Amino acid sequence: MAAFTVNGQRHDVAAPPDTPLLWVLRERLALTGTKFGCGVAQCGACTVHIDGAAARSCVTSLAQVEGRAVTTIEGLSKDGPHPLQKAWIAEQAPQCGYCQSGQIMSAAALLAEIKKPTRAQIVEHMNGNICRCGTYPRIIAAIERAAREG
Ligand code: FES
Ligand code: FES
Repeated sequence: MAAFTVNGQRHDVAAPPDTPLLWVLRERLALTGTKFGCGVAQCGACTVHIDGAAARSCVTSLAQVEGRAVTTIEGLSKDGPHPLQKAWIAEQAPQCGYCQSGQIMSAAALLAEIKKPTRAQIVEHMNGNICRCGTYPRIIAAIERAAREG
Protein backbone atom coordinates (compact mmCIF):
# COMPACT_ATOMS: atom_id res chain seq x y z
CA MET A 1 0.00 0.00 0.00
CA ALA A 2 1.22 3.50 -0.79
CA ALA A 3 -0.39 6.92 -0.70
CA PHE A 4 0.84 9.51 -3.18
CA THR A 5 -0.46 12.04 -5.66
CA VAL A 6 -0.60 11.69 -9.41
CA ASN A 7 -1.27 14.84 -11.40
CA GLY A 8 -2.44 16.52 -8.21
CA GLN A 9 -4.91 13.83 -7.21
CA ARG A 10 -4.32 11.62 -4.18
CA HIS A 11 -4.27 7.85 -4.65
CA ASP A 12 -4.05 5.03 -2.14
CA VAL A 13 -2.83 2.01 -4.04
CA ALA A 14 -2.88 -1.46 -2.52
CA ALA A 15 -0.15 -3.46 -4.24
CA PRO A 16 3.14 -5.10 -3.24
CA PRO A 17 5.75 -2.44 -2.38
CA ASP A 18 8.07 -3.54 -5.17
CA THR A 19 5.42 -3.10 -7.88
CA PRO A 20 6.87 -0.80 -10.57
CA LEU A 21 5.26 2.64 -10.61
CA LEU A 22 4.81 2.19 -14.38
CA TRP A 23 2.48 -0.78 -13.77
CA VAL A 24 0.48 1.18 -11.21
CA LEU A 25 0.07 4.14 -13.55
CA ARG A 26 -0.97 2.06 -16.54
CA GLU A 27 -2.89 -0.83 -14.99
CA ARG A 28 -4.42 0.66 -11.85
CA LEU A 29 -4.86 4.32 -12.76
CA ALA A 30 -5.43 3.89 -16.52
CA LEU A 31 -2.81 6.54 -17.33
CA THR A 32 -1.53 4.88 -20.47
CA GLY A 33 0.37 7.87 -21.86
CA THR A 34 3.44 6.58 -20.02
CA LYS A 35 4.94 3.74 -22.06
CA PHE A 36 6.79 0.51 -21.37
CA GLY A 37 9.90 0.20 -23.51
CA CYS A 38 12.84 -1.68 -22.03
CA GLY A 39 11.84 -2.08 -18.39
CA VAL A 40 15.44 -1.58 -17.24
CA ALA A 41 15.95 2.22 -17.24
CA GLN A 42 17.64 2.24 -20.64
CA CYS A 43 15.16 3.86 -23.04
CA GLY A 44 13.22 6.64 -21.27
CA ALA A 45 9.79 5.71 -22.68
CA CYS A 46 8.44 5.46 -19.13
CA THR A 47 9.70 8.87 -17.94
CA VAL A 48 7.52 10.73 -15.43
CA HIS A 49 8.28 13.43 -12.89
CA ILE A 50 8.60 12.67 -9.19
CA ASP A 51 8.60 15.83 -7.12
CA GLY A 52 9.46 17.67 -10.34
CA ALA A 53 12.47 15.58 -11.34
CA ALA A 54 12.49 13.21 -14.31
CA ALA A 55 12.39 9.57 -13.23
CA ARG A 56 12.12 6.19 -14.94
CA SER A 57 8.86 4.73 -13.70
CA CYS A 58 9.81 1.19 -14.82
CA VAL A 59 12.49 1.00 -12.12
CA THR A 60 10.73 3.09 -9.48
CA SER A 61 8.86 0.98 -6.95
CA LEU A 62 5.52 1.82 -5.44
CA ALA A 63 7.24 2.08 -2.05
CA GLN A 64 9.56 4.79 -3.41
CA VAL A 65 6.69 7.15 -4.25
CA GLU A 66 5.03 7.03 -0.82
CA GLY A 67 4.07 10.61 0.08
CA ARG A 68 5.47 12.03 -3.15
CA ALA A 69 4.02 13.90 -6.13
CA VAL A 70 4.06 12.11 -9.47
CA THR A 71 3.31 13.89 -12.74
CA THR A 72 2.60 12.05 -15.98
CA ILE A 73 2.18 13.32 -19.52
CA GLU A 74 -1.58 13.55 -18.86
CA GLY A 75 -0.95 16.09 -16.10
CA LEU A 76 2.00 17.97 -17.54
CA SER A 77 -0.02 21.14 -18.03
CA LYS A 78 -3.16 22.22 -16.30
CA ASP A 79 -3.75 25.17 -18.64
CA GLY A 80 -4.11 23.67 -22.09
CA PRO A 81 -1.15 22.30 -23.99
CA HIS A 82 2.29 22.77 -22.45
CA PRO A 83 4.68 24.89 -24.58
CA LEU A 84 6.56 21.70 -25.37
CA GLN A 85 3.41 20.00 -26.60
CA LYS A 86 2.67 22.98 -28.86
CA ALA A 87 6.24 22.94 -30.15
CA TRP A 88 6.05 19.16 -30.70
CA ILE A 89 3.03 19.70 -32.94
CA ALA A 90 4.58 22.67 -34.74
CA GLU A 91 7.71 20.65 -35.52
CA GLN A 92 5.74 17.44 -36.22
CA ALA A 93 8.24 15.67 -33.99
CA PRO A 94 6.73 12.16 -33.64
CA GLN A 95 6.91 9.33 -36.12
CA CYS A 96 5.36 6.21 -34.52
CA GLY A 97 4.93 8.22 -31.32
CA TYR A 98 5.81 5.49 -28.86
CA CYS A 99 8.78 7.23 -27.24
CA GLN A 100 7.36 10.72 -27.35
CA SER A 101 5.64 10.98 -23.96
CA GLY A 102 8.92 10.12 -22.31
CA GLN A 103 10.78 12.55 -24.56
CA ILE A 104 8.43 15.39 -23.61
CA MET A 105 8.60 14.59 -19.90
CA SER A 106 12.40 14.59 -20.02
CA ALA A 107 12.43 17.84 -21.98
CA ALA A 108 10.00 19.43 -19.50
CA ALA A 109 12.33 18.60 -16.63
CA LEU A 110 15.17 20.26 -18.55
CA LEU A 111 13.23 23.46 -19.28
CA ALA A 112 12.05 23.65 -15.67
CA GLU A 113 15.71 23.76 -14.66
CA ILE A 114 17.22 25.72 -17.57
CA LYS A 115 14.85 28.09 -19.39
CA LYS A 116 17.10 28.61 -22.44
CA PRO A 117 19.34 25.56 -22.76
CA THR A 118 22.07 25.46 -25.37
CA ARG A 119 21.92 22.77 -28.03
CA ALA A 120 24.72 20.94 -26.25
CA GLN A 121 22.75 21.00 -22.99
CA ILE A 122 19.67 19.68 -24.78
CA VAL A 123 21.60 16.87 -26.44
CA GLU A 124 23.27 15.91 -23.17
CA HIS A 125 20.04 15.98 -21.18
CA MET A 126 18.03 14.02 -23.76
CA ASN A 127 20.78 11.46 -24.27
CA GLY A 128 18.98 8.73 -22.28
CA ASN A 129 15.74 8.93 -24.25
CA ILE A 130 15.86 6.53 -27.18
CA CYS A 131 13.80 6.97 -30.34
CA ARG A 132 13.79 3.91 -32.60
CA CYS A 133 12.34 6.07 -35.39
CA GLY A 134 15.26 8.50 -35.21
CA THR A 135 13.24 11.66 -34.68
CA TYR A 136 16.08 13.28 -32.73
CA PRO A 137 16.54 16.33 -35.04
CA ARG A 138 12.84 17.22 -34.73
CA ILE A 139 12.87 16.64 -30.97
CA ILE A 140 15.79 19.04 -30.60
CA ALA A 141 14.06 21.57 -32.86
CA ALA A 142 10.89 21.30 -30.77
CA ILE A 143 12.74 21.84 -27.49
CA GLU A 144 14.51 24.85 -28.96
CA ARG A 145 11.19 26.22 -30.21
CA ALA A 146 9.54 25.76 -26.80
CA ALA A 147 12.48 27.49 -25.10
CA ARG A 148 12.21 30.33 -27.61
CA GLU A 149 8.42 30.75 -27.68
CA GLY A 150 7.63 29.64 -24.11
S1 FES B 1 10.75 1.38 -20.01
FE1 FES B 1 11.66 2.54 -18.44
S2 FES B 1 13.52 3.27 -19.26
FE2 FES B 1 12.74 1.89 -20.78
S1 FES C 1 8.75 8.20 -32.68
FE1 FES C 1 8.89 6.05 -32.89
S2 FES C 1 10.20 5.44 -31.27
FE2 FES C 1 10.29 7.59 -31.25
